[in-house]
Amino acid sequence: MSINIAIDGPSGAGKSTLARRLAVKLGFIYVDTGALYRAIALYMLRRKADTEQQIVDCLPELDVTLRYMNGEQHVFVNDEDVSGLIRTPEVTMAASRVSAIPAVREYLFVLQQNLARENSVVMDGRDIGTVVLPDADVKIFLTASPEKRAMRRFLEMQEKQIVGQTYEEVLADVIRRDEQDMNREIAPLKQAADAVLVDTSELNLDESEALLLKVCKENLQK
Ligand code: DC
Repeated sequence: MSINIAIDGPSGAGKSTLARRLAVKLGFIYVDTGALYRAIALYMLRRKADTEQQIVDCLPELDVTLRYMNGEQHVFVNDEDVSGLIRTPEVTMAASRVSAIPAVREYLFVLQQNLARENSVVMDGRDIGTVVLPDADVKIFLTASPEKRAMRRFLEMQEKQIVGQTYEEVLADVIRRDEQDMNREIAPLKQAADAVLVDTSELNLDESEALLLKVCKENLQK
């Protein structure tokens, strides 16, 4: 029997770093579902598929897969490893747009469910606890204030030497993306009724990780 832990929340709350750490601690696979939407967005940008109809028409050309190398998730599109190409601001905004398209979500739904059925996973995203894994063993809604999230993203971009955006621009993007993710008609970002709310605004990574581990252990014992 696989154990499933669902972590949802807005961008920059620390989901991916914390979900990855949690997966290592628990010996589970970490599934970053945002990377799947980003990979589709990259493909559509390259194909210059812009409208919903064009994007839907291109979906049958796509084969998106996740593979694990040295414990790290890599996302492949038609056998090309695109993991290093999907973190740019352009792909980030495009991912938010493609993720609002029902056919894209349906396409990825099956892939995500299969992964969770076959493996014990810590899966992070926006609709994991509400739509993809409604029966997950543990559900966590991870959040932090928009300002804190924008600052974290800004510092991360500086560290990775991705230049071109000021803090104010990153904050504006965070707010715009929250808007898009929370107000879309299909699978909007929202806390599942049975999810535990964790706010990391005032916590560092180690403190957040300790809290998440505690929440997981308590809920898995129930
Ligand atoms: O977590 P991220 O920033 O890599 O996600 C990229 C985009 O994909 C984001 O705008 C929201 C969307 N997304 C989604 O709609 N559902 C998911 N399960 C994961 C991500």
